[in-house]
Amino acid sequence: TWCWLWLWSPSCSSRRWQALVVILCLLKLSSVSGQARYSIPEEQAEGSFVGNIARDLGLDVARLISGKARIITKGSRQYVDLNQDKGTLVIKERIDREELCGKTTPCSFSFEVILENPIQLYRVTVEVIDINDNSPSFPKDEINLKIAENAASGTRFSLESADDPDVGINDIQKYTLKPSDNFKLEVQSQPDGGRFIEMVLQTPLDREKEETHTLVLIASDGGEPHRSGTVRIHITVLDANDNAPVCSQPVYKADVKENSPEGTVVTAVSATDADKGVNGEVTFSIAHVAKEAKQLFAVNVKTGEIKVTGKLDFEKSKTYQLNVQASDHGGFTDTCKVIVQVIDENDNIPTIQLMSFSNSISEDSPPGTTIAVVNVDDEDSDGNGIVKCSINSDVPFKIESSLTGYYTIVTDNFLDRESVPDYNITITVSDQGSPPLTSSKNINVKVSDVNDNPPKFSQSEYSKTVPENNSPGFSVFTLSASDADWGQNARVSYFLEEKEINGLAVSSLVSVNSENGVVHAVRSLDYEQIKWFDFNVTARDAGSPPLSSVATVRIIVQDQNDNPPQVLYPVQTGGSMVAEMVPRSADVGYLVTKVVAVDVDSGQNAWLSYKLQKATDRALFEVGSQNGEIRTIRQVSDKDAVKQRLSVIVEDNGQPSRSATVIVNVAVADSFPEVLSEFSDFPHDKEYNDNLTFYLVLALAVVSFLFITCLVVIISVKMYRWRQSRILYHSNLPVIPYYPPRYSDTLGTTGTLQHVYNYEVCRTTDSRKSDMKYMQPMSQSLVSVDGDGTDAQQLEKQLSGNCSQMSTLVSDKLIPCFSLL
Ligand SMILES: *[C@@H]1O[C@H](CO)[C@@H](O)[C@H](O)[C@H]1NC(C)=O
Ligand SMILES: *[C@@H]1O[C@H](CO)[C@@H](O)[C@H](O)[C@H]1NC(C)=O
Repeated sequence: TWCWLWLWSPSCSSRRWQALVVILCLLKLSSVSGQARYSIPEEQAEGSFVGNIARDLGLDVARLISGKARIITKGSRQYVDLNQDKGTLVIKERIDREELCGKTTPCSFSFEVILENPIQLYRVTVEVIDINDNSPSFPKDEINLKIAENAASGTRFSLESADDPDVGINDIQKYTLKPSDNFKLEVQSQPDGGRFIEMVLQTPLDREKEETHTLVLIASDGGEPHRSGTVRIHITVLDANDNAPVCSQPVYKADVKENSPEGTVVTAVSATDADKGVNGEVTFSIAHVAKEAKQLFAVNVKTGEIKVTGKLDFEKSKTYQLNVQASDHGGFTDTCKVIVQVIDENDNIPTIQLMSFSNSISEDSPPGTTIAVVNVDDEDSDGNGIVKCSINSDVPFKIESSLTGYYTIVTDNFLDRESVPDYNITITVSDQGSPPLTSSKNINVKVSDVNDNPPKFSQSEYSKTVPENNSPGFSVFTLSASDADWGQNARVSYFLEEKEINGLAVSSLVSVNSENGVVHAVRSLDYEQIKWFDFNVTARDAGSPPLSSVATVRIIVQDQNDNPPQVLYPVQTGGSMVAEMVPRSADVGYLVTKVVAVDVDSGQNAWLSYKLQKATDRALFEVGSQNGEIRTIRQVSDKDAVKQRLSVIVEDNGQPSRSATVIVNVAVADSFPEVLSEFSDFPHDKEYNDNLTFYLVLALAVVSFLFITCLVVIISVKMYRWRQSRILYHSNLPVIPYYPPRYSDTLGTTGTLQHVYNYEVCRTTDSRKSDMKYMQPMSQSLVSVDGDGTDAQQLEKQLSGNCSQMSTLVSDKLIPCFSLL
């Protein structure tokens, strides 16, 4: 043991310790013939001297040769060779200690030297001494590390240690890290002799400052000269999200029109983040805003573009403040304020609201009556919200502004339901936007009825003709009055106004149906009694108060030929005999007498014609067909019988015609006695004559009276008309008497009255009405004339009623009074 220790003593010089070792070791070797020990540094060149074995083993060179000394090696490699001639050992093969022993120390190999004759065995041990022939080396040239910038101080990063095959002092002695700003090196020895190297972060890294670091780790050994190995450590600082995004502008302002379509870009916000990559990615979102705003705007997560997503309504909100949050993935945020101003658009149609409205207005409302109160409104602002209200101009209404936004519609004129029953009023409002928006509303105003129109007859006077002898209940005609009003105000009822006609109540003649205005005749009318009559009918509506109007109805009774002619003269007496005297000296055309007949009918029905029906001597007499005059048609001769009997038929012109027959007795004689003798068969002849004389006197007196009366009347009428004609001379229309052609008078005027006179007397006054006036009383008195007995009293009445008849009667026997006129 001591031997090894000694050998290791570094202070020994190689030569000295070689010898010492051999000696001492030989002493110890007893099993083998001898042994030697050498120590050589590694990496000696081939042939380098190892040791003098001959000397060290006490053998001479000859012995070596004779004994055929040779080396026996156990292993495959033989590092050392024996030089027999010199008895030295030399390097046969380069020895690499690291290869031979690795890290084992001390490092030696042994071999035997064998000699024959006699066999001698010597052990030689060669110790290989390390030299610093290897540098420390790292497994890799470069180490790449990625360290997050937010790695805490004290974080350790283990590094691979370097390796140096050399041993001892030549092995790695220390490690150094450069530069050492951020890291320091900690080296720990391990039980197995290895080193555990760690890099410890001392100062935090900041990617934003320096993104990469390059360090060099140096491993140095203790050999002479020093050898070292290096490894470059590349450190990439990994970004940590340590920077918050920052908005480019603290406040963004933007204007956007209301009603902008969805997708309209309002503005775009931007933000920067100093971090890199994902950590530098900024996303945007809208935060901390009212719910409505959140629905109206959206921000693009990536670009920060703010778009409209809903319907912006200026009228709801004029500004919105959006807080757009810019955030990175690490949760760092910044808030960009966006103030959005909504610009008003004319998007609200003005509204019209009827606050109060009566759809019916009385037609008697005075101008200025309010019919409606209207409220108009426009939600827009400024000009877009200023409204103007108007109504159509073709109605009698006007619109007036009252309070702001309130208008009243009032009547502008008087209304008349009968001309315009309703009005359509169009209320139009328009604002002052561009283009302006308008809206309109129609209201219908009904004009309610007031009873302001009386019923109106189609004519104010009606004239209807009813044939006499009508059946009772005969419907004459229908009155009709219209009323322009409405409903009850237009319901017309008809009322007959009571009055008296010839002592008869009008209601006993006619009736009027109050509902439908039909005029009925109540009884059968008689022309001979009533020729016409007037009555008033009132049409009254059912309004309150009722209005009415009156129409005058004239009913004209139409004559029918219902009365036969009545013979007035010659009077038909029952017993007595009346005869006309004709002197035998009478000429041709001598007027014997005149048959006087009347017909109470009128017109054609009263036109009478006379015909000779029977005669004793047809050749002697003729009857004037129109005037009833009986004249001689030839000279009377002595041969003619005294007693002549003529039968004259009087016919009217009605359809069918009615007739009456009269017997005329004519006495052809020159003296009364002759006549009497002839008519002696008449017992009351004398009495008759007395009576006749009396009647004639009486008649004369009456006629005279009547004549004077007529005269007075005519003169006064003439006077009156003369005065009238001076004022208005046209008014006196000439009266043209009417004669049917066949009645025209063809006869001469010898001793007779002309028709002209006969009729003109009573018709001179201005119309045919007068005829009726004169005739009327007579018609009443004629009722009993039809009978057989002639009453002087009645005759008087008849005569007094009929001037014309009278005049004709008188003209024969007496002074033709009217011819004088
Ligand atoms: C009012 O309008 C209604 C319906 O549009 C129409 O029937 C009526 O005739 C109109 N009235 C007037 C007076 O124009
Ligand atoms: C009808 O009435 C008017 C006045 O209303 C009156 O003048 C006239 O005489 C009346 N006529 C008749 C036939 O009653």
